[in-house]
Amino acid sequence: MNILVTGGAGYIGTHTCVELLNHGHDVVIVDNFVNSEKESIKRVEEITNKKIKFYEIDILNEKALDLVFKSNKIDAVIHFAGLKAVGESVEFPLKYYNNNITGSIVLFETMKKHNVKNIVFSSSATVYGMNNISPLTEDMPLSTTNPYGTTKMFIERILTDLYNSDNEWSIAILRYFNPIGAHPSGKIGENPKGIPNNLMPFITQVAVGKREKLSVFGNDYNTHDGTGVRDYIHVVDLAKGHLKALEYTMNTNKVEIVNLGTGKGYSVLDIIKAFEEGNNLSIPYEISERRPGDIATCFANTLKAKKILHWETKNTLLDMCKDSWRWQSNNPNGY
Ligand code: NAD
Ligand code: UD1
Repeated sequence: MNILVTGGAGYIGTHTCVELLNHGHDVVIVDNFVNSEKESIKRVEEITNKKIKFYEIDILNEKALDLVFKSNKIDAVIHFAGLKAVGESVEFPLKYYNNNITGSIVLFETMKKHNVKNIVFSSSATVYGMNNISPLTEDMPLSTTNPYGTTKMFIERILTDLYNSDNEWSIAILRYFNPIGAHPSGKIGENPKGIPNNLMPFITQVAVGKREKLSVFGNDYNTHDGTGVRDYIHVVDLAKGHLKALEYTMNTNKVEIVNLGTGKGYSVLDIIKAFEEGNNLSIPYEISERRPGDIATCFANTLKAKKILHWETKNTLLDMCKDSWRWQSNNPNGY
């Protein structure tokens, strides 16, 4: 199949492109490189020994997107393009609503126009909000604490309404838990601009000497060691989940929402320890204040993914720590 991957130059997009290409699919990337580099696409080509067609365009640009659909016979879309920094979304909500929601609407309109009605969409466990108790199931009530999360919740709703208006659509909405790790080649990985917001890129930047020490945001949560517990998932497992979701959309006409996680929760201190032991390194850290908006515990119920996608994760926490470090140590300054 020929798959249009929006945001395909980014962290999860590149790993998904590798899996798509390795499974014999063709890939067309649309990305404006607002949070990525062209080099990442070259690296995917190196890993897979295949060529990728890419368009440097913004998904908000209706004419340019239309031309991509006119010039390529697209079978399905995997939609990663979006801004994802929680703090920035609080400061610039309109930028987030415009980029993520309007951008998605432009994409869906263009798909409709060209009669491409199969889509896999990147949502986030952030839509479960502060009040649900883990393990989180797909039918729990949603709420959000920041504009980024709200964009995900709205786009989920828009896709559901779209399906309800026309049952020819086939839609998989994937709620990711915490993707970490990198391709085992060490050629592609997460490449945050500026100070990392998320735990693993911060740890790897401490390990490589770019940051002095990690701040652990609170050790007074109601968890086994007082630090926040999350469901960390290897990005390669996550990427493989997209292939399963794609297959599912090709064989059904439904809208389905599916958690992609491991179902296991690890604390911040567990992650530090695993990273140190797995890589024979020491990570200096200090305990600091809780980060506003953080919850104690968040991990997935993974039954639905097993049942309908026939997918589950394979990589261990040790794999995630080793692969994150291989990427960072091979590429201390990113791409
Ligand atoms: P990323 O920033 O690495 O990738 C997103 C890509 O989209 C980037 O290459 C960026 O340049 C591109 N992009 C953004 N706006 C665009 C626009 N208007 N037009 C064209 N391209 C645009 O992020 P990622 O970690 O790979 O995340 C991919 C998707 O998964 C995002 O939608 C994100 O919100 C979602 N998600 C990520 C996580 C995570 O922890 N990484 C968790 C849950 C959900
Ligand atoms: C964060 C976002 C969430 C987003 C997700 C994936 C917030 C409030 N939430 O979730 O919306 O979907 O990233 O992109 O930003 N931690 C530290 N020190 C650090 C960084 C993190 O102790 O420097 C802790 C956090 O308190 C948390 C855990 O590590 O307990 C994981 O943090 P992070 O990687 O930012 O992910 P989430 O908080 O799950």
